Amino acid sequence: MAAKTIFVLNGPNLNLLGMREPEIYGSATLDEIAGQIEDHAHTLGFDVDIRQSNHEGHLIDWLHEAAADDAHAVILNAGALTHTSLGLFDAIKAIRTPVIEVHLSNPAAREEYRHKSFIAPVAKGSICGFGALGYQLALDAASKF
Ligand code: DQA
Repeated sequence: MAAKTIFVLNGPNLNLLGMREPEIYGSATLDEIAGQIEDHAHTLGFDVDIRQSNHEGHLIDWLHEAAADDAHAVILNAGALTHTSLGLFDAIKAIRTPVIEVHLSNPAAREEYRHKSFIAPVAKGSICGFGALGYQLALDAASKF
């Protein structure tokens, strides 16, 4: 049987990882992190489909696609859209695919405007503050369900 796929979706400005505020987000680029995610997913027996967009609608379309493709799970770092997007909230609520929220930083320990998450109430769970390791922890969690 073909390996199940886990979608790993990244939102606005995460294409700039490596040069974007490295004291907060680390020095690894998204491509480097994607390589780590792929390696770890393969050791767990999953395929991954890793994407990034600066556009809310793309992320919503990809959540629908994950559901239509019967993906095993979605790992979502929605970036700043985490704190604003009723559209992402509705999309996650509309699908049955479990979504794991990931953040490199710990938004709860940062500015107050980052404390609200539209993703957390509809996510299976959230992993924040462990840098790029958070994606691997999310894969570990997804491999258990
Ligand atoms: C982030 C946290 C968000 O508050 C911020 O807007 C980001 C990155 C993180 O991974 O720590 O773009 O999602």
